[in-house]
Amino acid sequence: MNRDQLESTFDQQAGTYDQQWAKLAPFRDGIHLLMASVFSRLPRDARMLCVGAGTGAEIHFLAERFPAWTFVAVEPSSGMVDTARARAGQHGYLDRCTFHTGYLDSLPAGGPFDCASSLLVSQFLLDRDERRDFFRVIATRLKPGGILASSDLSADTEGPHYASLLEVWLRTMAAADLSPERVQQMRDAYKRDVAILPGASVEALITSAGFDAPVQFYQAGLIHAWYCQRLQTDA
Ligand SMILES: C[S@@+](CC[C@H](N)C(=O)[O-])C[C@H]1O[C@@H](n2cnc3c(N)ncnc32)[C@H](O)[C@@H]1O
Repeated sequence: MNRDQLESTFDQQAGTYDQQWAKLAPFRDGIHLLMASVFSRLPRDARMLCVGAGTGAEIHFLAERFPAWTFVAVEPSSGMVDTARARAGQHGYLDRCTFHTGYLDSLPAGGPFDCASSLLVSQFLLDRDERRDFFRVIATRLKPGGILASSDLSADTEGPHYASLLEVWLRTMAAADLSPERVQQMRDAYKRDVAILPGASVEALITSAGFDAPVQFYQAGLIHAWYCQRLQTDA
């Protein structure tokens, strides 16, 4: 997907995104719970960079958990930004959020962040060099030692178990009320629009972008999540 297609895909989903995935919320909740523990030693007034913020789910969880934190959300879909902003307004933490409708490359310069998240985002970068650059730019925005929590769909798609695991995963989507058409769209998108790499390859990309060795802290089905720290010096 080019940028226009990506933005239009997420714009179309923005109004129904949270409802559509509601029955799969346990996957999201598990990551959020652990991510909060990963970040729990950061300063009381930490600054967080949320890349690919979507409807603001991770900001919502962390804003309630860490009431003095501030957030910069980077999100190219204006529809998703509208939904995230409305959620922040409804729940009383809008004054702690800055929304950047766009990509990291156009994010205005600012002080370095204590931590960052990129949940289910880098998988949309099909080119490995672009994906490495994505992580590298996040690293440059963090303080040395700053923490990144990142998740992606990940699997060895050439391995003997992928076909079986994919069927289980898609059956899980179907059981969560996704229509047969939507499940078929996902099956097609996984081949065309999403770079599903083995965990070791994702970890190598992150490491080569200026982070220490990622620690995998979560896996459910195809979703894997890691945390890592920006190296003290540039890679
Ligand atoms: C699958 S959604 C996940 C949203 C949110 N992080 C969550 O876990 O609920 C992926 C989001 O990343 C955004 N996105 C995709 N590519 C991006 C990029 N290169 N930089 C920033 N955001 C991106 C999309 O617009 C979309 O809102």
